[in-house]
Amino acid sequence: MIPRIILVASLATVARSSQPGAPAPVAAPMRDLEWGQINFIHTTDIHGWLGGHLQEPQYSADWGDYISFTSHMRKKADEKGVDLLVIDTGDRIEGNGLYDASNPKGKYSYDIFGEQTIDALCTGNHELYQETSVAREHNTTVPKFKHSYIASNLDYIEPETGNQIPQAQRYIKFTTKNLGYNVVALGFLFNFDRNANNSVVQPVEEAMKEEWFQKAIREKPDLFLVIGHVGLRMKEFEQIFKVIRDENWYTPIAFLGGHAHVRDARKFDDKAYAIASGRYFETIGFLSIDGIKKKSGSEVSAEAAVTFKRRYIDNNLFGLHYHTGLNESTFPTEHGRNVSRLIAEGRKALNLDDSFGCASQDLWMSRAPYPSDSSIFSWLETQVLPDSIVNEERKDVPRLAIVNTGAIRFDIFKGAFTKDSTYLISPFISRFNYIPDVPYAVASKVLELLNNGGPVFSSALDTQYLTIPEQAVPRGPFFEAASAETDNEGRRLLFADVDSPQKPLSLSGANSLSKQDEDKGKDDPELIGGYTTRDDLGDDGDDAIHSPIKFYAVPNCIQAKISFPSPPGNGDGNDTAPAPDPETVDLVFIDYVQPWVIKALQFSGGDYSNDNVKVYTNSTLTDVIAGWVKKHWKKDC
Ligand SMILES: *[C@@H]1O[C@H](CO)[C@@H](O)[C@H](O)[C@H]1NC(C)=O
Ligand SMILES: *[C@@H]1O[C@H](CO)[C@@H](O)[C@H](O)[C@H]1NC(C)=O
Ligand SMILES: *[C@@H]1O[C@H](CO)[C@@H](O)[C@H](O)[C@H]1NC(C)=O
Ligand SMILES: *[C@@H]1O[C@H](CO)[C@@H](O)[C@H](O)[C@H]1NC(C)=O
Ligand SMILES: *[C@@H]1O[C@H](CO)[C@@H](O)[C@H](O)[C@H]1NC(C)=O
Ligand SMILES: *[C@@H]1O[C@H](CO)[C@@H](O)[C@H](O)[C@H]1NC(C)=O
Repeated sequence: MIPRIILVASLATVARSSQPGAPAPVAAPMRDLEWGQINFIHTTDIHGWLGGHLQEPQYSADWGDYISFTSHMRKKADEKGVDLLVIDTGDRIEGNGLYDASNPKGKYSYDIFGEQTIDALCTGNHELYQETSVAREHNTTVPKFKHSYIASNLDYIEPETGNQIPQAQRYIKFTTKNLGYNVVALGFLFNFDRNANNSVVQPVEEAMKEEWFQKAIREKPDLFLVIGHVGLRMKEFEQIFKVIRDENWYTPIAFLGGHAHVRDARKFDDKAYAIASGRYFETIGFLSIDGIKKKSGSEVSAEAAVTFKRRYIDNNLFGLHYHTGLNESTFPTEHGRNVSRLIAEGRKALNLDDSFGCASQDLWMSRAPYPSDSSIFSWLETQVLPDSIVNEERKDVPRLAIVNTGAIRFDIFKGAFTKDSTYLISPFISRFNYIPDVPYAVASKVLELLNNGGPVFSSALDTQYLTIPEQAVPRGPFFEAASAETDNEGRRLLFADVDSPQKPLSLSGANSLSKQDEDKGKDDPELIGGYTTRDDLGDDGDDAIHSPIKFYAVPNCIQAKISFPSPPGNGDGNDTAPAPDPETVDLVFIDYVQPWVIKALQFSGGDYSNDNVKVYTNSTLTDVIAGWVKKHWKKDC
């Protein structure tokens, strides 16, 4: 199985994605999918990106294209006489105008998502922050996927009766279509505790004591399927693995997870693996399992070798055509086209393409170091916040404005900054609160504590909740190794294949390019930058071969000093003397960080509680950014 090298020269013939205005995909050398007996196609943490990425060719296919893709893949599975299951592991909402810009939120996106046929799905934490989204999940998505929605540790509280009922069935059992394997499937959420009060998340270790769970793990299926909105390196999957394995020594277990926004694969033992399939509909995960033995009454022996293979598919039409062997005219199905049209109509109705201004450069969350001119956090701290965080009645009072980095979800690309962009980078409805007249000696210690607080905060107030998901969730040996490294200027990396520039493109493993292809590869055009994943199955997981991108670590929070006294001096350029510190400041912060801020103030000697907190401005961070862009960036690109 030798991946074909396809030159960028053939680009002109690659179809454009189905959303009007989406960039054409860029060709890349490809690794093939390796099919097994049971195959999974997996999405996770889509966060509303059903329209695909309109500024990134690598991820420009939409949900309609995905529907065409899965339809062809199901056909392929039938032809091969194997089985294919389509999975989604939650966080479908929040993070894209197609969900966030409508009133009510999700007016278009629930129906569009629901057009896909899905064999198993579960809930993420983002479906649970607001009571309305919990209810909407219960009355829209759960009934639509009546036979495949699984809620192993999630309950819903009915508003009419106050009854606490399972959000969906606790587990499902089915027999696969072509090979007739018996599967028991579970669907978990990590031990999340910031959910709205019409939902109840049962800690995983408690759920596993329930009678239904104990029954489920004694069903003797040919395969256990555990889907979950759970990071692969979090403790919850480990716990579930141990309990199932104790009862079933030799049964293969497939885990499909998410939440961490990374591509990853984890080995639990020879017969149990997990994959995570990225974020924002950039990635379509593919997992295949071979060597599954049917149970015929007696227990399967230990010798049966089971193999797991995985591939992380970049979500663009070049790759989707490649993996299905189809082209521009044969690939789109009628259903897929219809769904692409639904998306385009929704985007149009919401005016998502309306331009607020033109970004003159890229601003990165973690692809540029912080602080730097290309860091979105530096831009917020030095430009947006100082200009925008103003309360007319207190506009002359010096203030510190604190925003957690996790409030920002995406990069800004050079070019049109649209209504959609505001939701991509800042989907949350967080507002700014403040505590007036805090002694500066106390207020000035807060940022440091939020960023390096450690034991000041209880585990419920873990400061990891403040930062971006890519950094907050435990990430395993590969990422940890990368984070321990620094770039040549000593800046800490979040994760990056720091040593792969020397290692020619990680082309190792069963699927590597032949020597001949590698030689030919020397004349290839430049590779597009993208994921260069390393996981427990090796470094050949990505379907397209990319040049590596560095990701830098970011702090938990950033802080702008606003209306501080200017340095003494008479304007003759003599500002060697430092500005005096103000006696007191208004401590302004995005409301999400309030519990941490109160705690940090108390630790610094300030006797403050929630009673001291007032509203500073009714604008959300999203409003603040949109307003600043309209005012400062020229309208047309
Ligand atoms: C579903 O729940 C949402 C949020 O509470 C509500 O606005 C909507 O009317 C409900 N729809 C139905 C069909 O009950
Ligand atoms: C949840 O809390 C809100 C506000 O505190 C309250 O109005 C509502 O009745 C509560 N809902 C449930 C289901 O307990
Ligand atoms: C697509 O494939 C079909 C069937 O192989 C072929 O007839 C057609 O010419 C191809 N179209 C394009 C645009 O390449
Ligand atoms: C696609 O949309 C057309 C027009 O609304 C409809 O007639 C047709 O049945 C749809 N086809 C599929 C497969 O959804
Ligand atoms: C600059 O300011 C400092 C401190 O106020 C003073 O000592 C120094 O003489 C000034 N230098 C000039 C060139 O004005
Ligand atoms: C925020 O909105 C509320 C309700 O409209 C209003 O009473 C309050 O004055 C506003 N606060 C600020 C700081 O604008």
